[in-house]
Amino acid sequence: MVMMQERLVYQAFYTKSTCIVDYMVNKLMLESTDIIFEPCGGDGVFVEAILAVNEFATIDVCELNDGAYQMLLNKFSHYANVHVRLCDTLLDSALTFSADFGGLYDKIIANPPYGAWQDLEKRAILKKMYTDLYAKDTYALFLFRCIELLKEDGILSFIIPDTFLNIHMHKALRHHILTNTKILELALFSSSFFPGVNFGYANLSIITLKKAGNKSDCINNQFKVLSSFTDVKQLSDIREAELSVFSFTQDEILANPDYAFLIATNIGITKAINDSKLKVGDIANCVTGFYSGDDKAFLQVNSFDLRNSKNYALVNTDSINKEYKNIPDILDGIEGEKCFLPIVKGGGTKFLKQECWFMDWSKKAVEHYKSGKKARFQNSQYYFQFGIGVPMISSSRITASLIENKLFDQSIVGVFPIDKSYTCYLLAFFNSPTCNKLIRTINPSANNPANYIKKIPFILPSDEQKIFIDLVVQEIIDSIKVDGVYKEALEADLNEVIKNIYGF
Ligand SMILES: C[S@@+](CC[C@H](N)C(=O)[O-])C[C@H]1O[C@@H](n2cnc3c(N)ncnc32)[C@H](O)[C@@H]1O
Repeated sequence: MVMMQERLVYQAFYTKSTCIVDYMVNKLMLESTDIIFEPCGGDGVFVEAILAVNEFATIDVCELNDGAYQMLLNKFSHYANVHVRLCDTLLDSALTFSADFGGLYDKIIANPPYGAWQDLEKRAILKKMYTDLYAKDTYALFLFRCIELLKEDGILSFIIPDTFLNIHMHKALRHHILTNTKILELALFSSSFFPGVNFGYANLSIITLKKAGNKSDCINNQFKVLSSFTDVKQLSDIREAELSVFSFTQDEILANPDYAFLIATNIGITKAINDSKLKVGDIANCVTGFYSGDDKAFLQVNSFDLRNSKNYALVNTDSINKEYKNIPDILDGIEGEKCFLPIVKGGGTKFLKQECWFMDWSKKAVEHYKSGKKARFQNSQYYFQFGIGVPMISSSRITASLIENKLFDQSIVGVFPIDKSYTCYLLAFFNSPTCNKLIRTINPSANNPANYIKKIPFILPSDEQKIFIDLVVQEIIDSIKVDGVYKEALEADLNEVIKNIYGF
């Protein structure tokens, strides 16, 4: 037992998902007589966590992959109460038999595969077996299958993407859940809480439910949705005061279009993310910027008053090249003394950053950037282009400023609209609270890497709105350039228009 716990501690350290595992095991409300099922054993984290609570728990484990199966055997064959089988949970006939006779299990816990590849033959069989379900999201099949495998009043806890709550394809699954089970709790959080799993899904959910044969019990059941988690640790010590907590009856959800679980504090946010036809990635190229490999050697600053400037050399104004836009092979570097070029770096300045930082762009330096091990001469086709810079890390809210044909460093995501006429609109949008709500729903952490920025819904403004925004943005920029004054009141006007366009 002590050995097992020690191993758990170590594994917890490496996988960093102990909080998730503990939360789910807790939700099962384990009893000593329970027969438990783990339908996709993997490396056995759930089995270990259950055994740590009750060393004599009866657990059936299925695993499709032979390597994982052998590892599970190694781990658990000395437990007479743990039965590991090499089989396909979705097709296995012994399980089908049990499901047909009202289920076998008191508790089921799983982190099923989300979009596992199925060969054509298997896909055809699955489609036949699970007619109404969206078979491409394999987790939906596992969830359905496992609800069938639960005994009456049996409890299940699954960690799965939150897409089943809203997307049209999962309508039948939602109906099945809402009319055959009582949801006990739904926890929603960012997939970044789940280390080592890198998938396109922005958010994850843990659904815990109890099987119930009586439909009206199901419909009248009231359940809580917990969201706005900022740290995975909050899962192991749920304090509702720190979270957004919503309460619904299943009847209410069944009354929504497509039985969708419309949950976000502001429904418009979820809807915009789910329904928007265009995303920022469809209308703009979003790319990470340049790194010299050794900024102390190559980067210079025009004033030591600037934050974090002390370790850099002061740039000689005569070495700054102001005509670089006309140099044809600029990506090969510049001959002569005037070889320092402006570069845009991170930092939360809106609309326009002052020119403060300059990069050595001599032929020799550029050669180093292209071959140096630490240097990143990435996405160079976007260097010195007209676009927008969004800092990768934003402490309070997302910001954006113009990249006016400058270099931009790797702490910035450069956004280059394919149709340049949308530059001002995008600039206003990225600086708006509306955009901040969207990106923080897509990714609750303070990071804005290119892949998340690409996923932000993009809504085309009307001609009138676009003309207005272009004028106001231009006025803000001119005022910063000419007088160094940032006209905050104008930003409020922009935010209002963006709010109208997006509906929140
Ligand atoms: C996402 S992993 C989860 C593993 C484990 N439950 C955990 O949380 O660490 C999914 C596991 O399910 C297995 N698997 C995939 N399809 C399966 C199927 N049809 N039947 C049984 N196991 C399956 C995979 O081999 C993999 O080990």
